[in-house]
Order: sequence, then C-alpha cells, then structure tokens
Amino acid sequence: MQVYKVGGAVRDRLLGLPVTDIDRVVVGATTEEMLAKGFRPVGADFPVFLHPKTGEEYALARTERKSGRGYGGFTFYASPEVTLEEDLIRRDLTINAMAEDDQLNLTDPYHGQRDLEARILRHVSPAFAEDPLRVLRVARFAARYAGLGFTVADETMDLMRQLSESGELQALTAERSWKEISRALLEDHPQVFIQVLRDCGALKELMPEVDALFGVPQPETHHPEIDTGLHTLSVLEQSALHKQPLTVRWACLLHDLGKGLTPEDEWPRHIAHEHTGLKLIKAVNERFKVPKDCQELALLVGQYHTHGHRALELKASTLLELLQSFDIYRRPQRFEEFIAACEMDARGREGLEQRSYPQADYLRGAAQAAREVAVQPLLEQGFKGPELGEALKRERLKALKIYKDNA
Ligand code: CTP
Repeated sequence: MQVYKVGGAVRDRLLGLPVTDIDRVVVGATTEEMLAKGFRPVGADFPVFLHPKTGEEYALARTERKSGRGYGGFTFYASPEVTLEEDLIRRDLTINAMAEDDQLNLTDPYHGQRDLEARILRHVSPAFAEDPLRVLRVARFAARYAGLGFTVADETMDLMRQLSESGELQALTAERSWKEISRALLEDHPQVFIQVLRDCGALKELMPEVDALFGVPQPETHHPEIDTGLHTLSVLEQSALHKQPLTVRWACLLHDLGKGLTPEDEWPRHIAHEHTGLKLIKAVNERFKVPKDCQELALLVGQYHTHGHRALELKASTLLELLQSFDIYRRPQRFEEFIAACEMDARGREGLEQRSYPQADYLRGAAQAAREVAVQPLLEQGFKGPELGEALKRERLKALKIYKDNA
C-alpha cells in the first residue's frame, strides 16, 4: 500500500503557510488490511481511519457517485484498484487535488501547482457538482486567500452559478452550512466570502435577506457609499481588520437587514429598520441553527445599533433601558461586543474607516456608572423583591444623570 499526504496539507506547504491538519490517502489497501494494522475506523459510511498512534486521518482512495439529492445522497466505491488520480479527480479544487509522498514527490495530474502560482481557484472536474457545499467552500477559500491575490476561475463561477440556480443548496444541512459560514467569517477577508456567494447567485439562495440589501440606497450624508449591501461588506471588512470574534462578525453581517424591507418610496431613509429587521435576523439565525451567543448578539445589535451611534444624545432613562436590555451586570462581555459591532458599523463607510468613535468610551463609562450603584444600602433600607428592583433602577437612573451631566 502507498500513503500520500493530500488536500490542504500539500496546498498550504506549497504556499509556505503553516499546516495544521494533515489528511492522507491510502492507495492499494483494503479495509481489512487497515484494521489489521491497528487503524481505527471513523463512521460507518466512509472508508476513513485514524492512525493508532498519531490519530491522523487516513482515507482509502475512493471514487464517489452521486445517487441522490443532498449530502446523504452519496455512494462510495473504495477498493485497492482505485488509483491516486481517480481519487484526486473527485476533489473540489485543483489546488486541493495534489498529493505528495514521504519524499515530497508531488502528484499533480490536474495542475494544482500551476493554479497556485496563477492564484486561481479552479474546480477539478464536473464531479465538483456532486457536493453543493463546495460552492460555500470555494467562497471561503476566496475569503482566506484574497490577500494572496486568489480569485475564482470564470468556469468555476459558471458551475457555481448553475448549482445555485438548480436549488441544490437548499438540500444542505444547517450544520454543514454554518460550519462553512462561521469559518469563512473568521477569515481575514470575510467580505469576499459574501461577495463571491452573491456573484454566483448563492447568496440569494442561502441568505436572501442579505442579498436584498444590494441596490438599496441610504442617505449619502451618513453613508457616502450609499448602497446598503456595499456598506454591509465594509462593516464585515472592518470587523476582520479589528480582529473581532465570530459573534461580532455575525452581528455585523445582519445588523441592517431591516433596510431590505423599506418600501422604495421611502428610500433612502429607513425609519424603524432596527425593528423591522428583527424577524429577518431571527429567520437567518434559525435557518443555520446558529450558536446562541451569535444569535443573541445579532438580535441585540440589530435592535440597538442606532442607540449606540446616538449614545451621547440619549436621555438617561433611554440609556438605562439600553443597559438593562443587555443585562450588563451579568453579561459585561456581551455589551463590549455590542459596542464593538456599533464601532464597526460606524467605520464601515466609504472614507470614514479611520473616524474616531467616542460613543464607545461613553457607553463603557455609562455601564460602569450603573454597575457602581451598590445594593447593600438599599437592603439596609429594607427594600426587597420587586421593590428592591425598582429602587435599584431609580438609583441607577440618578447615577446616569450625574454621569451625563459630567461627561
Ligand atoms: N474535499 C472536497 N470536497 C469537500 C470537502 C473536502 O473535495 N466538500 C477534499 C479536498 O481535496 C480537500 C480535502 O478533501 O483539500 C480535505 O478537506 P478539508 O479538511 O475539509 O479541507 P482542507 O482542504 O484541508 O482545507 P482547510 O484548511 O480549510 O481545512
């Protein structure tokens, strides 16, 4: 049997990037031989094994035939006769379809190295269409390697467009889609992920609520870039430049969804978009079974981002309502993430990327003032239960009035 490193490990070594996980393909072996060598099988359907000592993945060379819709619709054919070339041709991109042996001899039948040098993401063969998740994968690789100058080949874009139009993306499970989306958002250029999905028609299938923002104007005074879709891409770009966590990046992507619902005769104004957007944010959250912390922050940022921008003008009572909504006493981190998302929103505007955002420190100071109100004196005055809650609120309001007067 022969063993080769394949996929990302080969690609990233050739790019001079750190290799994190190593996939290997085994040619000329049977399942029985692998088990006899102590390899542990993974899952029932896949001829994939874990090395008894290193725990790394070894897959038997296989061919795949699509037998139905969705991810379940695969049958695998693995046998000692399947060649390395046959295994590589069913992979997604030429740059992911190279193999190397222990002596670093490269097997590259589909010219992955040439495409690496030309900075092109190109599908290997029509077998690409066997897994529609690859549309998201290509967009994710485009987001990851945009800084190196990679773009998607025209013929691959055409295929991605066909796959999107066929409705196949609807068959992807929430878990698989979210894994790609969340990884893509954490790349250095997450806006490229959304842009590529939009360009091939996949965004309309996956997140029509985000797609609908393109072509929707906003007032030029606050938004020199005018287009709401472009603004969203810039906010996402800022969130990556400022190394924000996934929660903030997800909230950035969804914060303005309400603007896609504004009747055209109200353009470029978007009255109450913070409110109208909530049901859309909820729908997207549920569609991809998004983790709870991301869901929550996206909804809160959607509802309150304009409050964030207007922080210095808010009445003390409105400021208190905002702080209470975030439960800043038990969830300080979440409020910090809200502030970060608002700042990204303010900077994600053409020519305003470097602007200062005094609202951030002002909001932090207000939260601090509210938190400093001590409970003990109120307990000593005999307050308890709901009355204690009311008394605390009154004291916090007083503290915020003082804070505002001195700010
Ligand atoms: N692969 C594929 N189609 C998929 C998933 C994986 O063709 N839907 C193939 C590709 O050859 C890929 C390899 O399996 O390179 C390993 O997949 P995976 O570990 O998911 O990705 P990597 O390419 O290693 O990239 P990453 O750095 O994102 O993990």
